[in-house]
Amino acid sequence: GITRHYKFNVKMQNVTRLCQTKSIVTVNGQFPGPRIIAREGDRLLIKVVNHVQYNVTLHWHGIRQLRSGWADGPAYITQCPIQTGQSYLYNFTITGQRGTLFWHAHISWLRATVYGSIVILPKRHASYPFPHPFKEVPIVFGEWWKADTETIINQALATGGAPNISDAFTINGLPGPSYNCSAKETFKLKVKPGKTYLLRLINAALNDELFFRVANHTLTVVEADAVYVKPFKTDIVLITPGQTTNVLLRAKSKTPNAKFAMSARPYATGPATFDNTTSIGVLEYEKSASAPSSNNKNIPLLKAKLPQFNDSTYAMKFNQKIRSLASHKFPAKVPKKVDRRFFFTVGLGILPCLKNQTCQGPNNTRPAAAVNNVSFVQPNAALLQAHFFNQSKGVYTTNFPTNPPFKFNYTGTPPKNIMLDSGTKVVALHFNTSVELVLQDTSILSAESHPLHLHGFNFFVLAQGVGNFDPQKDPSEFNLIDPAERNTVGVPSGGWVAIRFLADNPGVWFMHCHLEVHTSWGLKMAWVVNDGKGRKQKLMPPPADLPKC
Ligand code: C2O
Repeated sequence: GITRHYKFNVKMQNVTRLCQTKSIVTVNGQFPGPRIIAREGDRLLIKVVNHVQYNVTLHWHGIRQLRSGWADGPAYITQCPIQTGQSYLYNFTITGQRGTLFWHAHISWLRATVYGSIVILPKRHASYPFPHPFKEVPIVFGEWWKADTETIINQALATGGAPNISDAFTINGLPGPSYNCSAKETFKLKVKPGKTYLLRLINAALNDELFFRVANHTLTVVEADAVYVKPFKTDIVLITPGQTTNVLLRAKSKTPNAKFAMSARPYATGPATFDNTTSIGVLEYEKSASAPSSNNKNIPLLKAKLPQFNDSTYAMKFNQKIRSLASHKFPAKVPKKVDRRFFFTVGLGILPCLKNQTCQGPNNTRPAAAVNNVSFVQPNAALLQAHFFNQSKGVYTTNFPTNPPFKFNYTGTPPKNIMLDSGTKVVALHFNTSVELVLQDTSILSAESHPLHLHGFNFFVLAQGVGNFDPQKDPSEFNLIDPAERNTVGVPSGGWVAIRFLADNPGVWFMHCHLEVHTSWGLKMAWVVNDGKGRKQKLMPPPADLPKC
């Protein structure tokens, strides 16, 4: 591979959406941010300079960061933030991966506006395991607030209430014609009849899983989270925040100038209010020479119908269709033996009010979220540094529970005690430990789908189901042949998912719900993977410009 240099200036920029102009944090003044294009095997050197009043970090979502955890980016996990006026060089090599990923800010709610696509092309002369598309088009979904998102989350955390929901969804930064005053800000994709397009779908929205559909067109899913999958056809794609999905679209319409809506709207299962609006982009067929130009006008946009916002059955069915290619060239390297088994509950609960807060929950409590009842408390130092320099004392403890502290009917009647615990706890693993993890949604406050994202690894999705996981029965259904290999998986609302990964990457790796509101409430934890014995089994030393806290 080659080395590619990028300069990312984090700076404020005025952007107008929904008829209001606001100053947002951007990279290089662009919204969405610049696209990174590289090939498998390339090394990336991305110099990030912070020109804004906020602390900043960037994360290269889904990049494995083999032994290069210092470049991963989550604030206070792998690095201290880049402070105003300072810079940091993210330095990593893309090893054994090709496909669509994305980058985003990984501190507070800055990723609301600070994100962009990563396109990793196969190695030179390597081809796709599907017909080569005529054109490739990244389609990045986002979420737009009229208000400043940093103010919203800071207020929510300070008052112990729920943050405001967004005002619009966006496709490549543009809300589209379904919103007031937004028709001009519509993403348009011009296509030639008969050609095939590869749409690189990325859900960069903060808080919403999305259904996506192109009216009158069937999509063929060929890749998920930068891993090839067995191609399958679908009308509607479900994509959670943190997930990426490549689909082929054949422009099969015979009508010149025809227009079809590309619609994105939430899949939402929680009790809270959410932004139930639809972002629309337009698939526009090129004018054909044979069509009289008078016909070019007033061809109505054909709308796309989407499932009910809470259609969990559709969601489950869609997710179960995703299977690894598991071919000779792209094998599914599912760990066959298991060294350690974990059972983690994920869900919402409450915590006592913090000092100076006036909380909105019952008995002066605030909403919170947890893994195994532990609501993660952000440390004041970066975990990776504390780990590397053997200074964990006062920063984190390694007693994260392997199982929930108490058992109950997770998806039935909520338990009496909805009060969570809190702390900065991690699981420590030996190098090359094979981990099996069952993630069980709870209905302590309510059942809700949680897109869980693991840094530093891909994992295999062995099975998923509704209700309580049954350790006697369910493992017999585990797919060890061609399970989906991904970095983000939806834990079904009121259900469970079982995953496996090999801890072959030394470092500290964050795992969290990719709904930013839940992350803010503590639905996150970290794995510490210790060095192995071999020379190539050790975390590299920290770079000299690593920011200080
Ligand atoms: Cu895309 Cu920890 O995040």
